[in-house]
Amino acid sequence: MTDWQPWAATLADKLAAESAIADDQWRAAFEGTPRHVFVPRYWELDEYNRPSRLVDGAISAHRPEWLEAAYTDRFLVTQWVADEDRRVVTSSASLPSLVARMLHILDVADGHRVLEIGTGTGYNAALLCHRVGAQKVVSVDIDAGLVADAAGRLNTVGYAPTVVAGDGALGVKGHGPYDRILSTCATRGVPPAWIDQLADGGRIVTPLTMGGALAVLTKSGPDEVSGHFDVEQAWFMAMRPATRAMPVGFLADQPQPVSDELAGLGVSSLEPKALADPDFRLWLLLHQPTLHFVEHFDNELAHAGLTVHDGADIATALRRADGPLHVRQSSPRRLWDTVEVAWRSWIDHHKPRRDRLGIAATTDDIQYAWLDHPARHQGGGGRAGVFRWPLLA
Ligand SMILES: C[S@@+](CC[C@H](N)C(=O)[O-])C[C@H]1O[C@@H](n2cnc3c(N)ncnc32)[C@H](O)[C@@H]1O
Repeated sequence: MTDWQPWAATLADKLAAESAIADDQWRAAFEGTPRHVFVPRYWELDEYNRPSRLVDGAISAHRPEWLEAAYTDRFLVTQWVADEDRRVVTSSASLPSLVARMLHILDVADGHRVLEIGTGTGYNAALLCHRVGAQKVVSVDIDAGLVADAAGRLNTVGYAPTVVAGDGALGVKGHGPYDRILSTCATRGVPPAWIDQLADGGRIVTPLTMGGALAVLTKSGPDEVSGHFDVEQAWFMAMRPATRAMPVGFLADQPQPVSDELAGLGVSSLEPKALADPDFRLWLLLHQPTLHFVEHFDNELAHAGLTVHDGADIATALRRADGPLHVRQSSPRRLWDTVEVAWRSWIDHHKPRRDRLGIAATTDDIQYAWLDHPARHQGGGGRAGVFRWPLLA
C-alpha cells in the first residue's frame, strides 16, 4: 500500500499557493484523492512531444519516478494510437492546475448534479465525487475500455458514480437535468444536447478546439447558453466524433516550405511580438478557424517568425534581428492578408484579451462567438462591424 497522502497534500499545497485551488472543499478533494490509482502507468514524451517511454507503477524500478509524476503538476499521457507515422494521444490525465482551475470556474455547490464529458482515467470524476457525492456525478467517455478501467478505479477508492460509455456530444439522457456540465475534451461549439440537459441557471465549462479557448456558459434562456471565455488558456484533445475519423488535434502536420514560384513577397505591418500572443492568435482563428501555426526560432541568425497554413495554402513571416517582418505567401488564397485584416481589427478594438470574447449557442445549433456582449451584432460595415463570428457546428 502506497503512503500517498503526503504526496497528495504537497500537490494540493502547490495548487493552493498558485491560486489554482481557491477554496477548502476543493483543497480537501485534491488532498483526499489518490491520483496514482487513476494513472497506474503513463508515457513519457520525447523531444517531438510524441509518447515514447512507458513508465509503469507495477514495475518496481519505475515506482519512484511514477509516483513523483502522479503528484506533480504534469499532464500524463495514458493512451495513444499509431496513425501512419504519427502517434495520436487518445487519453490523458489532465494537468492538475488546469483541472483545479476548471473545477473552480464550474462553481459547484452542495447538492449539484454534475455531468463530466471525457471520463479518461477517472481522476476528475473522483474529485467531483469527493465534492458533491458519487450519487450526483455522471461521467461519459467514448472509449468503453477507458470507462471500464475508470469505473474499477473509482470503486477501489470507494465511489460508484454513474459512468457511461458513449458519445458525450449527446450528453447522458435519463440522469439530468444537470446543474453543471464539465467537458474535458475540446469541442468546436456547444452540442445542443448539453443545452437541453442543463438545468435552468446551470453552467457549462468546455474547452474549444480553437486557440485554447475555455468557454464558461450559463443557461440564459430555455434553449440557449451564453458566456465569456476564461482569461486562462485550456488546451485539450478534441472530442472524437463517434462516426468520423479521429482528428489529429495538437499533433498537426508540419507544412512544406513555401516554394518561390508560388510566393507573394511583402513586408508586414504586424508587431512581431503579436505573433506569439495567444489572445491575438485566438482572435485570428475567429477570422480563419482552419489556420495552424508553426513557430520559427533561430537564435544564432536572430531569425524569428511564424508560418500559418491551412493544409492547402501557406504564408511565412520572418524577421531578422530588429528588422521588419518579411512575408511570403502562396496564391490564390493569400493567408497573410487575412492575418493583416485580423491584426488591424484587433488594434481597432484595443487588443482585446480573450476574456472580452465569448460564445452563445442555441438548441437549434445557431452558434456564434462575440466581442464584449452577445447582443452586439455584425453591422455598420467596414472594420467596425467585426463583433460576431459564426462558429462551425
Ligand atoms: C483529457 S482526457 C480526459 C481526462 C479525464 N477527465 C481524467 O480525469 O482523466 C479526454 C477524454 O475525452 C474522451 N473523449 C473524446 N471524444 C469523446 C466523446 N465524443 N465523448 C466522450 N468522451 C470523449 C477521450 O476518450 C479521453 O478519455
